[in-house]
Amino acid sequence: MGSILVTGGAGFIGSHTVVELQNAGYDVVVLDNLCNASEKSLERVEAITGKKVPFYKADILDREALEMVFGKEDISAVIHFAGLKAVGESVAKPWEYYENNIAGTLTLVDVMRKHNCKNIIFSSSATVYGNPAFIPITEECPKGQCTNPYGWTKSMLEQILSDIQKADNEWNVILLRYFNPIGAHKSGTMGENPSGIPNNLMPYITQVAVGKRDHLSVFGNDYDTPDGTGVRDYIHVVDLALGHVKAIKKIEENAGLKIYNLGTGHGYSVLDIVKNFEAANGVKIPYEICERRAGDIATCYSDASLAKKELGWEAQYGIKEMCEDSWRWQKNNPNGYED
Ligand code: NAD
Ligand code: UFG
Repeated sequence: MGSILVTGGAGFIGSHTVVELQNAGYDVVVLDNLCNASEKSLERVEAITGKKVPFYKADILDREALEMVFGKEDISAVIHFAGLKAVGESVAKPWEYYENNIAGTLTLVDVMRKHNCKNIIFSSSATVYGNPAFIPITEECPKGQCTNPYGWTKSMLEQILSDIQKADNEWNVILLRYFNPIGAHKSGTMGENPSGIPNNLMPYITQVAVGKRDHLSVFGNDYDTPDGTGVRDYIHVVDLALGHVKAIKKIEENAGLKIYNLGTGHGYSVLDIVKNFEAANGVKIPYEICERRAGDIATCYSDASLAKKELGWEAQYGIKEMCEDSWRWQKNNPNGYED
């Protein structure tokens, strides 16, 4: 195996995955345009693993830059995290999302095949299930109607990569559907670094805890769930990272086309998360119940048994560790990677 190219490797999930790949002995090369990340995340990776992370500041839309990287490095597989991911922003800027995520991936895949690198792991999302036809969600659950352009980019890219694999079975394509990644590296030196007001629940909670925000707005308490608030399958980002290491091993066995949910199989409501965060960390999270957020669904959690059976992967960390590790990162780095 040559090197693994990690696109978007300076980002939240990417940087944690680089740590676990290096720990497992893989050579890694990172490409990121830093539109939503700091290069400092990679310094933190190097401090943890004690290994250099070769880094290219480049855009996946930049064919020449990709040609240069594939010309210089011996790349055997790509883990493709690079993409824009803010749901609300994607509604306001659909062209930018389709351009970046879809045209970017098409360019990447074209350069890959020209260099005879036909192994890719793609960051997909539980969002492709739309309002899921059944719960817990297995991979057999039909894909649904997405409520925003971001979700459609994931759904469309799954189709595109599947069609490419079907047309040329030298390709190995693994689509990983993530549920809700939270948590941070145990060291407290790496974590999620959202710019502006966080869209997602856990970064919002940690910013309330650290005093940057006044209170949490809970988006609706009249859903058909045990306490009326939305239920999700939160997964520790290090478990997610380890799932990618297992997926690389599957690629080495010539996987063909595979799709796996990466979740824990457990659902927690918004108020469950607030209570668990308070109990784990001894901090109070004031909250107010507000209107539902447009596009949200009541309940989303995985059946994670296929990844266990075929990848030998299952989540190890529970909700307590997710809450503790998210807080350790935020407390030690109130401004994320900024000084
Ligand atoms: P992130 O924003 O931290 O990481 C994405 C990285 O891609 C960033 O570092 C960004 O700078 C880079 N990037 C974006 N466009 C690029 C381009 N054109 N060229 C080069 N680099 C580019 O987000 P994350 O949470 O780590 O998510 C990683 C992947 O997982 C994304 O594809 C995301 O859609 C997907 N995903 C995330 C979640 C989640 O809740 N975090 C859930 C499901 C799927
Ligand atoms: N929520 C609040 N207040 C907030 C933020 C969120 O009550 O300030 C609630 C939401 O209504 C939802 C739950 O917390 O019930 C989780 O919301 P997130 O925004 O953290 O996560 P989502 O499930 O909405 O979406 C996330 C990613 C998507 C991805 C999806 C499935 O943002 O990109 O998980 O993987 F597609």
